[in-house]
Amino acid sequence: MTALSSTPRVPIPANGVDYRGKVVLAPMVRSGELPTRLLALKYGADLVWGPETIDRALIGTTRRVNPRTGIVEFIRRPSNGGRPSEADKDSIIYRIDPAREKNRHIFQIGTASPDRAVQAATLIAADVSGIDVNSGCPKPFSTSGGMGAALLKDPDRLVSILEALVRDVGTPFQIGISVKIRILGEPDLTETLVSRLVQTGITGLTVHCRTTPMRPRERAIRDQLRMVAGVCHNAGIACVMNGDVTSRDEALALIAEYGVDGAMVATAAESNPSCFRTIAEGGLLHWREVVYDYLQAAIGIENRFGNTKFLMNILLPGKDREFKIARDSKSYADYCYLLKFPDLIPEAQRVDELMGLASRSITANGTALPSTATTSTSTASTTTTNTHSKAVQQALEQNESARAAGGAPRSKPTPSPPSGGGPIRTSAFPSPTRSQPEETAPEASQQQKLAA
Ligand SMILES: Cc1cc2nc3c(=O)[nH]c(=O)nc-3n(C[C@H](O)[C@H](O)[C@H](O)COP(=O)(O)O)c2cc1C
Repeated sequence: MTALSSTPRVPIPANGVDYRGKVVLAPMVRSGELPTRLLALKYGADLVWGPETIDRALIGTTRRVNPRTGIVEFIRRPSNGGRPSEADKDSIIYRIDPAREKNRHIFQIGTASPDRAVQAATLIAADVSGIDVNSGCPKPFSTSGGMGAALLKDPDRLVSILEALVRDVGTPFQIGISVKIRILGEPDLTETLVSRLVQTGITGLTVHCRTTPMRPRERAIRDQLRMVAGVCHNAGIACVMNGDVTSRDEALALIAEYGVDGAMVATAAESNPSCFRTIAEGGLLHWREVVYDYLQAAIGIENRFGNTKFLMNILLPGKDREFKIARDSKSYADYCYLLKFPDLIPEAQRVDELMGLASRSITANGTALPSTATTSTSTASTTTTNTHSKAVQQALEQNESARAAGGAPRSKPTPSPPSGGGPIRTSAFPSPTRSQPEETAPEASQQQKLAA
């Protein structure tokens, strides 16, 4: 018998996906919401992980299909009233595109309890191809509740969570269960942990090649990778590497170099999801194209504006002054107008109306669409009429000279929060700061309860 034929392989369930040979989008709270995932898929990601969602946040939600967009939404009714706009009435805890994410979407759960994990995962299992357990988040918000990286120190609990998910969710729904860990300080500690995890019935394991205390900007440590891959392979489990993988081409080279099965990209995809395109396919796209695609996706799925704004601040390039006005956009139409995407404006206006953003627009609701506008995604100049306000005209002129660089660095300071709370905390990651009142969802008090 050859070595190859004797290599075990945990069978992939009928509705699951094999992580082998895949270059995937990492789970990223806030940055990995649906529009980002759709972009990553469009640009060539093989699979996408959703942002960590805490079990308690999902439990108690109702599933509905948005009749306008076809998007599956897990919603929670606000207990404290709500804002007047239709779209904001319910808190949308999680969104899935059943068509474009079909067979390609892994839901990541934050949990410290086998029972709650099963309860939450059962709600969403029929809509996803796998459930991944976050066992790497180092933030106190996560670890203080026994979740994330705290599970690395409590392997009995982690094993019991994975076993429960495999038995009560993976098997009945025929999807894979996986786990995302960090390396431990000593290789033998990592080996002991991984050796236990691969016996739980999981189909995949992602290893973030940083230890829990390491900061995101510290270089990933890859010297445990071959060992982790070996333990996984001996048990028939797919091993996905993560940490400082910046493009599809690099991912494929690293997969070959380290003998892992797949690679996961986070921050590089956050600032430019076209990193999933190979050089042969043209490589990184110009930021205008990415921003256009992002806005189109966000508008199309009626994404929460605060989330869109957060991502736009990452996708728009650098600290160039000429982008300041676009960054001050207070509605979808503002963005489309100021960045000269005239073909997106009608849909943007519809969604603005729906979300109660239209009255805040800084471009007079985008009503003065330049009749001679020529371009949507190209970087070429756009001819405009003089029907704009001074601010709009200035922004358009400034944009003419904008440089064609890629996305903004991740390190840029986040705006300060207004008083009065934020959206429901669905993850154990810290609640992001926000700059605009429209980013404050109506369900702040509910979030406090869930996070408690
Ligand atoms: C904005 C942001 C949000 C993140 N959210 C999650 C998360 O929800 N779950 C998780 O397991 N890791 C999360 N991470 C960690 C990434 O998935 C990944 O492990 C880490 O960034 C290392 O990959 P990189 O070097 O490609 O950035 C997050 C990272 C970032 C930058």
